[in-house]
Amino acid sequence: MAKIKVGALVLGVVMAGLSAPAFAAGDATKGAKVFKKCKACHVVDSAKNKVGPSLQNVLNRQAGSVGGYKYSSAMSAFGGGNIWDAATLDAFLTKPKALVKGTKMSFPGLKKAQDRADVIAYLQQNSQ
Ligand code: HEC
Repeated sequence: MAKIKVGALVLGVVMAGLSAPAFAAGDATKGAKVFKKCKACHVVDSAKNKVGPSLQNVLNRQAGSVGGYKYSSAMSAFGGGNIWDAATLDAFLTKPKALVKGTKMSFPGLKKAQDRADVIAYLQQNSQ
């Protein structure tokens, strides 16, 4: 009896581990604060392009696809096969120039995984 209970407990723990999300859960409220680092160049609440393209509805949008915005050739090429899902955004925001070599986004990146998860949750909130 005791053995079976232990077995079930172990199985439960393993299953909980398997069903955990691959990324840290993001907090959109905290993400709004992280977004202050992006605001010099980006908006999320309208289609306005600044130094960088509007990030309204960026989740699941094809990279390099905002009309009227002049992307670097590196980002245009990257956009040929990539959409901005959470995983791609996470990789880009870790170190933009590492994922898209030659991008003109001159931002070093967000070192903390939690900051990235939070800002992605905030971008998600501003996407349809
Ligand atoms: C100094 C200005 C600047 C800052 C700060 C900045 N970006 Fe950018 N961002 C750009 C530019 C310029 C581009 C266009 C890159 C290209 O064409 O290579 C861009 C592109 C992007 C893209 C791709 C958009 C698309 O339409 O494909 C995303 C996503 C993005 N930035 C997110 C962010 C986030 C999130 C932050 C803050 C954590 C941030 N950026 C901070 C200038 C900036």
